[in-house]
Amino acid sequence: LFLLVLSLALVAPSLSARKCVLTGRWTNDLGSNMTINGVNKDGSFNGTYNTSVSSTKSPPQLSPLLGIQHYPNNESQPTFGFTVNWTFAESTTVFVGQCFVDKGKEILKTMWLLRSQADSIRNDWNAT
Ligand SMILES: *[C@@H]1O[C@H](CO)[C@@H](O)[C@H](O)[C@H]1NC(C)=O
Ligand SMILES: *[C@@H]1O[C@H](CO)[C@@H](O)[C@H](O)[C@H]1NC(C)=O
Ligand SMILES: *[C@@H]1O[C@H](CO)[C@@H](O)[C@H](O)[C@H]1NC(C)=O
Ligand SMILES: *[C@@H]1O[C@H](CO)[C@@H](O)[C@H](O)[C@H]1NC(C)=O
Ligand SMILES: *[C@@H]1O[C@H](CO)[C@@H](O)[C@H](O)[C@H]1NC(C)=O
Repeated sequence: LFLLVLSLALVAPSLSARKCVLTGRWTNDLGSNMTINGVNKDGSFNGTYNTSVSSTKSPPQLSPLLGIQHYPNNESQPTFGFTVNWTFAESTTVFVGQCFVDKGKEILKTMWLLRSQADSIRNDWNAT
């Protein structure tokens, strides 16, 4: 009986600790959508980003992204980073963030930097 109780106590926490999984479709509060196709064993992943906001004249188009999730096998709320390769603009964006499980819901908290193409090094100061 003692052994049984002990093993139940050991199992219970792992059943309730839900892992945050990056794979799937994400929507942000501005209506942009991102799909992550699946995280490989080494943490690398790819996907697509469909932005709803842009400062360019050409309309936004589906753009590919490449990223890495840190420690894909043992972190329940992992950190990650990815680069979006915009297909409609002369610019690159990088995101860093963490995948949280909050009240049973998966949430990505991220920040990004956007680099536009400067004509010359003299215009570098406002390009990022
Ligand atoms: C994207 O990731 C999937 C696995 O999730 C893989 O099968 C595919 O080859 C990857 N594509 C590229 C372009 O890396
Ligand atoms: C991307 O978003 C636009 C709306 O902003 C939509 O018209 C278009 O179908 C979307 N593309 C894909 C592949 O989801
Ligand atoms: C994102 O998906 C929602 C529906 O889930 C749709 O209304 C919206 O137009 C999409 N936006 C883009 C940029 O794909
Ligand atoms: C995750 O695994 C890595 C390498 O296998 C290890 O260095 C790290 O301490 C582990 N983190 C946790 C929280 O177990
Ligand atoms: C990045 O975008 C360019 C321009 O659209 C495209 O030619 C290239 O294949 C893309 N590379 C990746 C890895 O997505």
